[in-house]
Amino acid sequence: MIIPKFITVLLFAIFVSIHSLALPAYAKEEGKLYVIGMGPSGPDLTAPRGLAILEKADIFLCPPYIQMNFPGQIDPAKVAFDPWEGIHDEEAMKLRKTDYDKWLQRVEKRKKKVFNFVMDAINKKKTVVMLDGGDPCVYGPSLYWLLKGFDHRYLEVIPGISAFNAASAALKKPMIGEGINFVMLTAPHSMFGRSFKKGDDLLKELSGYNVTMVFYMALSSMDKLVEKFSRYYPPDLPMAIVYYAGYPDKQMVLKTSLRTVLDDLKKTDEKWLGLLIIGKAVK
Ligand SMILES: C[S@@+](CC[C@H](N)C(=O)[O-])C[C@H]1O[C@@H](n2cnc3c(N)ncnc32)[C@H](O)[C@@H]1O
Repeated sequence: MIIPKFITVLLFAIFVSIHSLALPAYAKEEGKLYVIGMGPSGPDLTAPRGLAILEKADIFLCPPYIQMNFPGQIDPAKVAFDPWEGIHDEEAMKLRKTDYDKWLQRVEKRKKKVFNFVMDAINKKKTVVMLDGGDPCVYGPSLYWLLKGFDHRYLEVIPGISAFNAASAALKKPMIGEGINFVMLTAPHSMFGRSFKKGDDLLKELSGYNVTMVFYMALSSMDKLVEKFSRYYPPDLPMAIVYYAGYPDKQMVLKTSLRTVLDDLKKTDEKWLGLLIIGKAVK
């Protein structure tokens, strides 16, 4: 059978246009891992881009406390497992202190489990989401521990409002400007080591500048922090602790100083969900 030339051309054009239309659609259906910054509290402080990805997610990897804050966004049936089980609970934190190497072995084991699970899902063209509190790049455990070395081609990170942003808003003050040289985000162990034996030179040097110092995970070691700061700073050094920053009903601001902070801390039992900010900005 002879096919007229114009029909051949037409068929070719249809073939080409179908393929050019199909390509972006195919790309969209590729599997991917999203690490989403969920913000400091609930969905009203999560970026719309992150919320949109939660809607299309096939599989969630998240700890129970995040699931609890997002009941309308996280379908429990889609939660595969808590990636942090056995690594971040109370028992694991004790192990981390008493036998760090053993704890690291657990992390490695977990890392492998997460990697194999995620890659298998990605190969099946699934959208997997791993959820971190606040912003994933500020003491977000997913990127730091479990996804170290993960192939960036399959990974997208969605930023979130960090505790620092929510706490600054609670204080209703600018954290930089008005003669402040810079803002420093840190944690006691980053600056002084877990045994508090390091960091004196750094702190002494810093005392010569006008800095806003933000300490994550500081509440359980305040006595040691006060001891260090007392070596280089005056007792009236301004300090603030913002508890539950961003939580509409629970947020609480404690304004204090180096001299009074340990007494003031006795007013609350919370040892985790509070951010310490130090410097003239919080006066
Ligand atoms: C592992 S870090 C996670 C930080 C998180 N990625 C962020 O960007 O906020 C946990 C620490 O962040 C601080 N934090 C997290 N959420 C907070 C909130 N809503 N209010 C006050 N501090 C918070 C606390 O100091 C807590 O110990």
